[in-house]
Amino acid sequence: MSILELEYPKNRLRRTRQAKWIRNLTQESMLSTNDLVWPVFVCEGSNVKDEIESMPNVYRYSIDNLSEVYDTADKHNINLIAIFPFTPQKLKTKSGDEALNPNNLVCRSLEKLKSQKPSFGIMCDVALDPYTDHGHDGLLSDDGKILNDETNSVLVKQSILLAQYGADIVAPSDMMDGRIGMIRDELEKHQFVDTLILSYAAKYSSGMYSPFRDAVGSSKNLKTDKKTYQMNIFNSDESIREASMDIREGADIIMVKPGISYLDIIYRIKNELKCPTFAYQVSGEYSLIKFGAKQGVIDEKTTVIEQLSCFKRAGADAIITYYAPEVSEFLKLID
Ligand code: PBG
Repeated sequence: MSILELEYPKNRLRRTRQAKWIRNLTQESMLSTNDLVWPVFVCEGSNVKDEIESMPNVYRYSIDNLSEVYDTADKHNINLIAIFPFTPQKLKTKSGDEALNPNNLVCRSLEKLKSQKPSFGIMCDVALDPYTDHGHDGLLSDDGKILNDETNSVLVKQSILLAQYGADIVAPSDMMDGRIGMIRDELEKHQFVDTLILSYAAKYSSGMYSPFRDAVGSSKNLKTDKKTYQMNIFNSDESIREASMDIREGADIIMVKPGISYLDIIYRIKNELKCPTFAYQVSGEYSLIKFGAKQGVIDEKTTVIEQLSCFKRAGADAIITYYAPEVSEFLKLID
């Protein structure tokens, strides 16, 4: 029988919605804290836990305070955390040299977390934007062009450094062409055969990254958009080309970003390429919900669980979200 022949009253679709037990049994996808990745910002100083103005309830932690992050991740069964650095302005340069400093914030955070033998994985971004004084992810020529291949050779070095300090996943978020293959070759050469590569393959040029840029201190530095490397918001097929190339080059996981307006992309990548597919509920998406809830416009827990469930329904295996530590509470409160 074709679905078009379904007829009332033989078929009353409300029958499977009438009570929680039957809704549970007929539910097609699931959300749990096992699906979540928690992005965490680190900064210099001691005993710092600074709230980010444009991201209520998201903090920059000094390294000595990372034990709080460790405990929270453990308590909520979060499987992976992603570390992002708030690099002091004086360490930012045109070529982002601090990215390759073994004593930089990310390497020291890795040392600290790894010494505690965390039960969760640690992921680090591969890109130059937290370290460049112009806020771009790649190297810039004198006439303001992003230098793809020159950037790749720095990203390769950055990836090896992060792997040496114990990053379980390196996550290139820079959108340069060809970097996945180069990073994979070099990881193999250095015997880092188990280091995972998560490629931000379908990363769109979005207006939703602004709070993140505040969080890592790059918004004031950034004078132009990222449209020559991040994807055109009007395109869908191109995300399949990006993701396929990256898988061929050695990526283990594909990230789609932002998330909620890009569910069609998550769906296509999962269905056409059948690879591990993660989605990023980015900073702007987080803050819109937070501020909306603070104003009493929406109910926070309902909206958060709804949006994260929609990622799962669309086909995401995991979701990176600033809400990660709050989700277990929300799940308990929701019927
Ligand atoms: C930069 C990077 C960005 C995010 C993660 N890595 C911002 C950008 O591309 O400008 C955004 C994350 C968020 O908005 O939550 N390599």
